[in-house]
Amino acid sequence: MHSQFFPNIRLYRTVESTQHLAKQMLKQWIITENTALVAKRQTAGIGRRGSKWVSSPGGLWCSLVILEPDLTDNAAITIWAGNLVHRTILNFFPAAPLSIKWPNDVFYSDKKVAGILVTQGNYNSPHKNQPAVIIGIGININQKKFPPEISEVATSIRIETSKRTKIGKLLHVLLTEFGKSYPLYASKKLSMFIDYFNTYDYLRSRLIRISHNKREYIGRASGISDSGSLIVQLSDNTIREFVSVDKIDILH
Ligand code: BTN
Repeated sequence: MHSQFFPNIRLYRTVESTQHLAKQMLKQWIITENTALVAKRQTAGIGRRGSKWVSSPGGLWCSLVILEPDLTDNAAITIWAGNLVHRTILNFFPAAPLSIKWPNDVFYSDKKVAGILVTQGNYNSPHKNQPAVIIGIGININQKKFPPEISEVATSIRIETSKRTKIGKLLHVLLTEFGKSYPLYASKKLSMFIDYFNTYDYLRSRLIRISHNKREYIGRASGISDSGSLIVQLSDNTIREFVSVDKIDILH
């Protein structure tokens, strides 16, 4: 496989976590150009907020390392990447009822089909300073079932469409999407991607309960702001923007 934006693509059969591996490789200075680490299976896949990410064979598990000093805003990168993952799946199934649940989940109807985890760091050595962002992407593609603890909330493209998708082909499209849209993202930041998000916003107009810093807020989800924050119209009609939250429950 070849990608101009990711000149280095490394494929693995089994790893603990591509996200973890990417960090280790950056610390050891093994990564010197944009790199995609892709595994068939992860034994200790990591989700957001320290959760476990079930990564059996059949999914696409990858961490995309971009060596770019200007990519600094995690929340914005998450929205951007969600956009590209959504676009990639639509490329294969144009009529699929896909949406994006703020900040980072891609949904197929009412279940999660993909998730994104953005980590960044500065990997310093006595000689160099290498800022890097690691975009971890998990897409449930060909799995036929999930463990009982997540089967109510997770789905795969195959379960929904009864079709098998070539994982390598989907990866290729995904990496191409990143390469195509990077210059736009780097120069215009999020503005180009907000409309797209708002068109496919899973939470749009839903009554939600947000738990954050031990407080609860109830209101109607009203899209995302120019910086990628979630806009909520609270019950007292005031508008509040959330940069991050601990939990969102959909009430209606
Ligand atoms: C989420 O909680 O929604 C984020 C899930 C991110 C999973 C991907 S799979 C590839 C990469 N390696 C990991 O261990 N996690 C990310």
